[in-house]
Amino acid sequence: MEIFSLKNQWINLLFIIIFTLLSISSKPATLALRSNENDMLALLSLKDQLVGDSHGVLTSWNASFHFCQWQGVQCGRRHQRVVSLNMSGLSLAGFISPAIGNLTFLREVDFSYNKLQGSIPREVGHLKRLVYLSLELNHLNGEIPEELSNCSNLQEIAFTANNITGEIPVSLGNMKNHIKLHLAYNLLIGGIPASLGNISTLKVLSLQHNKLKGTIPSSLGKLSNLEHMYIGKNKLSGSVPPVHNFSSLLVLDAAENQLSGNLPPEIGYTFPNLEAIFIGLNQLTGEIPRSISNISSLELFDISLNGFTGSVPENMGNLRNLLVLTISGNYLGSGKPGDLSFLSSLSNCSRLQSLGINYNHLYGVIPDSIANFSIWLEELLMGDNQIIGRIPHGIGNLINLDFMEMKGTFIAGEIPISIGNLQNLEGLYLGFNHLSGKIPSSIGNLSRLSDLDLSNNNFAGAIPLSLKQCTNLQKLDLSTNNINGSIPYQLFGAFERLIYLNLSHNSFTGSLLSDMRNMKNLVEFYVHNNNFHGEIPMTLGESLELTTLFMQKKSFHGTIPQSFASLRSLENIDLSNNNLSGTIPPELQKLPFLVRLNLSFNQLEGEVPKKGVFKNATGFSFFGNKNLCGGIPKIQLPKCFSEKPKEKGKVLSTKTIIVIIISILLGSILVVLLVYHSLRHKARRGTFMPSSLFDNGCLRLSYKELLECTHGFASSNLIGIGSFGSVNKGVLYQHEKLVAVKVLNLRNHGAARSFIAECKALRKIRHRNLLKIITSCSSIDYQGNEFKALVFEFMPNGSYLKYEYYTI
Ligand SMILES: *[C@@H]1O[C@H](CO)[C@@H](O)[C@H](O)[C@H]1NC(C)=O
Ligand SMILES: *[C@@H]1O[C@H](CO)[C@@H](O)[C@H](O)[C@H]1NC(C)=O
Ligand SMILES: *[C@@H]1O[C@H](CO)[C@@H](O)[C@H](O)[C@H]1NC(C)=O
Ligand SMILES: *[C@@H]1O[C@H](CO)[C@@H](O)[C@H](O)[C@H]1NC(C)=O
Ligand SMILES: *[C@@H]1O[C@H](CO)[C@@H](O)[C@H](O)[C@H]1NC(C)=O
Ligand SMILES: *[C@@H]1O[C@H](CO)[C@@H](O)[C@H](O)[C@H]1NC(C)=O
Ligand SMILES: *[C@@H]1O[C@H](CO)[C@@H](O)[C@H](O)[C@H]1NC(C)=O
Ligand SMILES: *[C@@H]1O[C@H](CO)[C@@H](O)[C@H](O)[C@H]1NC(C)=O
Ligand SMILES: *[C@@H]1O[C@H](CO)[C@@H](O)[C@H](O)[C@H]1NC(C)=O
Ligand SMILES: *[C@@H]1O[C@H](CO)[C@@H](O)[C@H](O)[C@H]1NC(C)=O
Ligand SMILES: *[C@@H]1O[C@H](CO)[C@@H](O)[C@H](O)[C@H]1NC(C)=O
Ligand SMILES: *[C@@H]1O[C@H](CO)[C@@H](O)[C@H](O)[C@H]1NC(C)=O
Repeated sequence: MEIFSLKNQWINLLFIIIFTLLSISSKPATLALRSNENDMLALLSLKDQLVGDSHGVLTSWNASFHFCQWQGVQCGRRHQRVVSLNMSGLSLAGFISPAIGNLTFLREVDFSYNKLQGSIPREVGHLKRLVYLSLELNHLNGEIPEELSNCSNLQEIAFTANNITGEIPVSLGNMKNHIKLHLAYNLLIGGIPASLGNISTLKVLSLQHNKLKGTIPSSLGKLSNLEHMYIGKNKLSGSVPPVHNFSSLLVLDAAENQLSGNLPPEIGYTFPNLEAIFIGLNQLTGEIPRSISNISSLELFDISLNGFTGSVPENMGNLRNLLVLTISGNYLGSGKPGDLSFLSSLSNCSRLQSLGINYNHLYGVIPDSIANFSIWLEELLMGDNQIIGRIPHGIGNLINLDFMEMKGTFIAGEIPISIGNLQNLEGLYLGFNHLSGKIPSSIGNLSRLSDLDLSNNNFAGAIPLSLKQCTNLQKLDLSTNNINGSIPYQLFGAFERLIYLNLSHNSFTGSLLSDMRNMKNLVEFYVHNNNFHGEIPMTLGESLELTTLFMQKKSFHGTIPQSFASLRSLENIDLSNNNLSGTIPPELQKLPFLVRLNLSFNQLEGEVPKKGVFKNATGFSFFGNKNLCGGIPKIQLPKCFSEKPKEKGKVLSTKTIIVIIISILLGSILVVLLVYHSLRHKARRGTFMPSSLFDNGCLRLSYKELLECTHGFASSNLIGIGSFGSVNKGVLYQHEKLVAVKVLNLRNHGAARSFIAECKALRKIRHRNLLKIITSCSSIDYQGNEFKALVFEFMPNGSYLKYEYYTI
């Protein structure tokens, strides 16, 4: 194989001559000289295969300097051989030349955070002195070379986030000093080799997010130094082996596999130092082992979305260090009183930040002792259980709560007034319960509230005017209650951020003449099945993002406002069963996304347009309007009297024809452009991310600022890589603040729309508040790709898993 071109050979020859002269003057030992020569040749071969040196680092690899002074190269002082190669974060593409195997004095190799392709050369097996090999975050494919196990001094292999395929070589088990093995986020297949149990020094085993199958080998139980075991998001099956010597293990992440069977009953004794267990999204069954409560170091316990049954151990409160307890999505509970008694013991968990018990079969009353829960509790998810009784007044003690979910239970009575103390609350979900009484006006104290769901209860009385103080509301659902009275004029004026508003199926009266001009972000608006009267508010025409408008049933009269024509995002309108009169505004046929329009049972008259939504008889419905005419032939309405007969028989001059053709052409180009533009606009809207959820207007950071603060997301600052992206440490110099920047990997998650949906789904069951979020950044990176990042306060001792676990 020809590696060098003729020209390169010339240049290299020149280098060798110059270099030899340089070396002779300083160091006459010829043996060293030859090895040195080889090192330079090897470096030049490496350079040859690398492209896209946008940082200009490789241009310094030239004859003006001794290769030991080339950027990224470090030599041993005595023998002048290359001992370290640091090429991290240089956006380099191309391949790793097999010549790397000739740099036999190498101890450290770091090619992380580049765009390298191709496979890892087998020749790395020649590097007997190699201690550290990082190729993280590249586009490498091919298999892990068997020969790697010859590097008997290797202490860390970091191949995370590439496209590496094939099986994990069994021979890796022969290594002696293997302390950290990072193979996560690749395409590895096959099983976890039992031989890995032979690497007695292994501290970190990171295999998550691959395609590994088979069982967890019990030989791993011999790894008495193992501290971190990440095997989540694979296709592993079988049971969690009852290992006996996992005394060093701190983190066990086996979530999102196909593990089955029971958890070993003695887990509390065989894993005595565990800080975190993630085994959510498996097929585990049986009871939660009582011995769990003996792992006093446990901080994170997540067994969500499995098939666990039986009761929750009543002594969970012994786990004084718990930060997160998530048992959501199982079959826990007997449906008899006592199911919730474990909650009382949790008052002893004074650091608890997140509690998720939703989607289970837990029956009973929420104990008053909830008032004594950790003051740090930020997230409380209890919905979809058989909870009865009331919401305890003491809930108002939990002043740091920002997410409270109790929907789909049998909770009755009123919402305690003390809810107004929860001034950090951002999401309050109490839908589908038996709650009654008035909505307490103290709810107006919740100025950070962004989601409020009180739907499908028995709330009565008027809507409290204090609600207008909740100016951060994005989603308000009061549907299907008995709320009456009129909507105060000032109310909607306050809701500048509102995206979703549902007041349907209540007993509202009066006109809807509220000030809607500020609701510029409204996307869905439902007010149907109420007792409104009066006209459809004209100011609705300023909610330009509106897609869905439901105003049917016995409420409105007057005409359909012309201003609808400006609501270009509209997709679905239902104005049926009202008393609307006048004509159908022809502008409606120009709404490009409108696919459903229901105007049935009104008093509309005049001509039905023929284009847009009116072109398709299935999308448009008009029954019960007595005086309509025209429209497409399929709907069989009478012809309109006023329809002008077509001008006939006029001979057009060629000049006129040309003018007409040109106008039509120009017109259609314009239409195409307009449609394209609005489609893009829509697509962008689809990627909407409720940034106000994180950023309370305090700090806005651009892509550039984040790039700078993390030194170009340098891998030296990399805290970890999670399923949603990578986390880097950074410094906000102006604010003198250490931060962790989590860059969301949008590509891995397909369309951004599904990304948001995924976040929302996860949010239901997972906690999100281990960390303080400072702000979010949503922008376009320098490659023109969409870029989204979350900026957290940096936690000095926090494992990256905690950032990983923040799922918005
Ligand atoms: C590597 O070293 C061998 C001899 O040890 C030599 O034959 C080969 O050309 C070298 N390759 C490069 C790319 O330097
Ligand atoms: C050689 O490297 C030096 C130092 O980095 C650089 O200043 C110089 O421009 C390079 N010369 C060539 C010909 O690229
Ligand atoms: C892996 O391969 C797929 C398909 O070729 C590609 O889309 C993806 O970007 C690659 N990932 C990495 C990390 O190289
Ligand atoms: C572990 O090492 C021993 C020798 O030290 C060997 O006999 C055994 O086969 C190895 N186990 C595995 C699973 O490779
Ligand atoms: C567990 O470790 C202890 C020492 O830490 C050792 O004496 C014992 O043999 C080990 N047990 C097993 C089953 O490996
Ligand atoms: C486990 O905890 C219980 C109390 O919850 C205690 O009685 C028992 O001795 C503990 N067992 C061990 C092995 O520590
Ligand atoms: C909390 O811990 C104390 C001391 O161990 C114990 O006496 C008390 O019963 C515990 N409280 C609950 C509610 O479990
Ligand atoms: C909360 O704890 C205090 C002191 O431990 C106790 O007096 C009080 O009764 C507890 N409150 C509830 C509602 O359990
Ligand atoms: C509302 O908040 C204030 C503090 O800002 C507090 O004093 C008041 O008690 C709260 N009102 C209600 C009804 O919770
Ligand atoms: C609203 O309903 C309550 C009973 O739930 C009734 O007392 C009140 O008069 C009603 N108000 C209006 C304006 O209809
Ligand atoms: C509908 O409006 C007409 C006048 O526009 C009025 O006479 C009629 O009573 C209204 N019908 C209903 C059901 O409100
Ligand atoms: C008409 O509308 C229906 C339902 O909205 C849709 O399934 C159908 O494809 C449409 N037909 C045409 C020709 O656009």
